[in-house]
Order: sequence, then C-alpha cells, then structure tokens
Amino acid sequence: MVKFAHVSKSFGDIKALEDISFEVKKGEFVFITGPSGAGKTTILKLILREILPDTGQIEFDGEDIVALPEEKVPFMRQKIGVVFQDYKVLPERTVRENVEVALSVLGIAQEEWEARVNQVLKLVGLDKRSELFPAQLSGGELQRVSLARALVINPKLILADEPTGNLDWDTADAIMELFEKINKEGKTILMATHNQHVVARLKKRVIELKDGKLVGQTKEEKPKIKVKVEEV
Ligand SMILES: Nc1ncnc2c1ncn2[C@@H]1O[C@H](COP(=O)(O)OP(=O)(O)OP(=O)(O)O)[C@@H](O)[C@H]1O
Ligand SMILES: [Mg+2]
Repeated sequence: MVKFAHVSKSFGDIKALEDISFEVKKGEFVFITGPSGAGKTTILKLILREILPDTGQIEFDGEDIVALPEEKVPFMRQKIGVVFQDYKVLPERTVRENVEVALSVLGIAQEEWEARVNQVLKLVGLDKRSELFPAQLSGGELQRVSLARALVINPKLILADEPTGNLDWDTADAIMELFEKINKEGKTILMATHNQHVVARLKKRVIELKDGKLVGQTKEEKPKIKVKVEEV
C-alpha cells in the first residue's frame, strides 16, 4: 500500500529524514513512533504529496507518487483519509455537516450523503449526536467526528497524526479501540505518535525514528484474542 525506498528530505540544514525505507502492506496497522522532531509528520506529508523528497522513491497504491503529475495529485489524495491531533472540524457546522463536507469535496451525489454519513456516524458511535455542533462535544467525540469524516470517503489508507495527543488516557484508549475496529474491518492504518502507552498497548508493527533515521522496526505480532465476558 505504501512503500518508501531510501527516502531523504532536508529543510535547509535540517535533515528531517535520512535514507528511510519501509513498507506498509494492505490491511496492516502500523505505528510510526519517535521523539518530537524525529520526522513522523514529514513521512505523512510525503505520502500526501504535500512535500516531495530530495531523493528516494515513494509508492502509494502501486503508483510512484513522486513522479505523479500535479494534476493527478487530488485524485490520489481521495484515496487517503487523514486524522489530525487537533481534529480540524468546522465550528459552524453540525457533526453531520462536517462529515458531509468530505463527500461534497469529492462530488458525491447528494442523495447518497445521508446513508453514508449515518453509516460512519454509527460506526464511530456518534449517531445520536449528528445534529450537535463541535462546541457541544468532548475531545474524544471531536476526534470521532474527524475519523468519521476520514472514513466516509471510503479511503484505501488512513493516515493519523498524533490522534490522541489532546485526549486523556481513557478517552485515548477508546479512540484507539475504534481505530483497531476499523483496521479489523479491513482498513490500512498508518499512525504517527510519540505516545508510548498507546504503542505498547496495541501491539502493532512499529517503525521507530530518531533524528530522521530509522532506528528500529518490529515485525507484526499475532493479534491477541480478546475474551469479553458480558454480564447478563
Ligand atoms: N517546513 C519545514 N521547514 C523547516 N523545517 C521543518 C519543516 N517541517 C519539518 N521540519 C523539521 O524537520 C524535523 C522533523 O519534523 P516533523 O514534523 O516530521 O517531526 P515529528 O516527528 O512529527 O515531531 P512531533 O512529534 O513534534 O510532531 C524537525 O526538526 C522539524 O523542525
Ligand atoms: Mg509531528
């Protein structure tokens, strides 16, 4: 789904990334971790083609995105749902309208909106809050809105940049469970975070950066079987 081969990127004297190679396969859930300034966001920006590498190759969904002509970039981005730390929701719009914006941008026929929005709001647990405004929601709920907006376009890949950065531990855990559920339903997820608690808890594959260098990579572990005893 995503492949970096010997990618380097500098901003002036700052080497943000140096000779980075990794691959994320379809259906995987992978963390990019490392301290502040390690280069995590730079990797996500390269995948979105907001910036270009100095050297190296980047593939997304079988395409060489470095060589991709500018006019094709918007189409490529339509295959990616993005979730940020600060939610980036529109304050003047309801939950439903915030999600609809993503469909509107893609030019999806309006008669399809209601069903698609209802489906993703249910998935993220916001079906009863669809007519509320962002100011009426908690941080965890705002992050659910932004995840719903990312999912409604049915992307091939979800990129998340520090999605639990503004949330307390319990809320972060709930959001991570939601990402896990979405991954189990087949979505590929690449998540940048320096939250070691989140990384340790989920036991997913980890790509570890430090000062722009890849300093470690784990292999995918077998998922733990969760046994949930429900009280009657
Ligand atoms: N547009 C830019 N201009 C100059 N330097 C930049 C730019 N973007 C990133 N950098 C530098 O590149 C390095 C990597 O930045 P990046 O944002 O990828 O780090 P990060 O791992 O996401 O950090 P954080 O955890 O704080 O979000 C940093 O030293 C940063 O200052
Ligand atoms: Mg960052």
